[in-house]
Amino acid sequence: MINASIRKDFPMLNGRKMQGHDLVYLDNAATTLKPQCVIDAVTHYYTHLGANAHRGDYELSFEVDTAYEGSRKAVAQLINADEKEIVFTSGASASLNLIAYGYGRKFLKEGDVILSCEAEHASDVLPWMKCCEENGCVIEYIPLNDEGRIEIETFKKCLHEKVKMVALAHVNNVLGYEQPMAEICALAHQIGAIVSVDAAQSVPHMKIDVKKMDCDFLSFSGHKMCGPTGVGVLYGKYNLLQQMDPFMLGGGSNARFDMCGNILLKDAPYKFETGTPAIEAVIGLHAAIDYLNQIGMENIHQHEKELHDYAIEKLMQLENVHVYNPHADGGIITFNIKDVFAQDSASFFNSQGIALRAGQHCAKLLNEKLGTSATLRASFYFYNTKEEIDRFIEVCAQANIENCLNLFF
Ligand SMILES: Cc1ncc(COP(=O)(O)O)c(C=O)c1O
Repeated sequence: MINASIRKDFPMLNGRKMQGHDLVYLDNAATTLKPQCVIDAVTHYYTHLGANAHRGDYELSFEVDTAYEGSRKAVAQLINADEKEIVFTSGASASLNLIAYGYGRKFLKEGDVILSCEAEHASDVLPWMKCCEENGCVIEYIPLNDEGRIEIETFKKCLHEKVKMVALAHVNNVLGYEQPMAEICALAHQIGAIVSVDAAQSVPHMKIDVKKMDCDFLSFSGHKMCGPTGVGVLYGKYNLLQQMDPFMLGGGSNARFDMCGNILLKDAPYKFETGTPAIEAVIGLHAAIDYLNQIGMENIHQHEKELHDYAIEKLMQLENVHVYNPHADGGIITFNIKDVFAQDSASFFNSQGIALRAGQHCAKLLNEKLGTSATLRASFYFYNTKEEIDRFIEVCAQANIENCLNLFF
């Protein structure tokens, strides 16, 4: 287990109360808390750098460019990519939309198929629905097994000559299952399809190597990995990025334009980074990556798995709790208090100082499969402790229809 002393790095974990209780933050799949070094990196930009990126010819501006491009290098190293394959966006949603817009709308044609599944996050499926509406392509959904996973044999059966794009999450944000992405990429490539991996729930939690995985695109957000909000990453194989269109045009991304309407864009990644970016967030992301690297991605993954197994063993002994994913591969537990609507249960957890998520978690197609209209989701990160899990289990044990509804009357 990671030593709990790292909690001192997080201001939110030092004395923050919720409803009079010590905060137990278990909503890490939504966003993570920030260590002081990330907060400092953001304020350092505003306090000591201040200038825009990629625009000025003075010393400060050069320092900003160095910090900004230094972050690109850190991201590239984190996932074993080349720097020119890293596009900064505002988050995973923006990256996924950029693929559907810049690649999908340009290259997919009527009748072409995009493979998705019922468990996908809205940000990984709605952009493709829009692409279908405009280009006449269609989404086909890979059937999930009873547990909610994609089986490789099923995936093989879904591949056919019309499949041009496979758009799947590496780790699902509701069930926490890790999909065998390297195998999926290899099979998809055999029929010439492109693979876009939504890695919003994997890059923050495990070691990712895009070369080993051999995905074509990979998207993730800074704020789910201790970084600031407002920055995300699109990794793309360089030849694909070069072929793609940006969805925004303007300052910073063009090399030349004239009054006849000729526009010459810069090469990737710059052609996608129009306008002033979230400079402080990009710089803060670098600090977050350094921090995670210091802890070690393998240690982070291992810690979350241990917390998960510890929590599941205890939860399965509670008769009032239904767990939907006892065999998740990471730190996500989706459950309900029996006979209580998820949002009402969440209010009870809130009253006890526990922050977790209730609802459909942006994966609205999945609920039918789970046989419920809403669930609770507890999601862990490396700063959570066994003591916090004990407190969580204690509150689960107390939760029932009376005390959940008593909060409202
Ligand atoms: C699997 C998955 N994909 C995409 C996203 C979208 O991320 P963001 O809101 O940071 O754009 C999320 C966020 O919850 C997610 O869990």
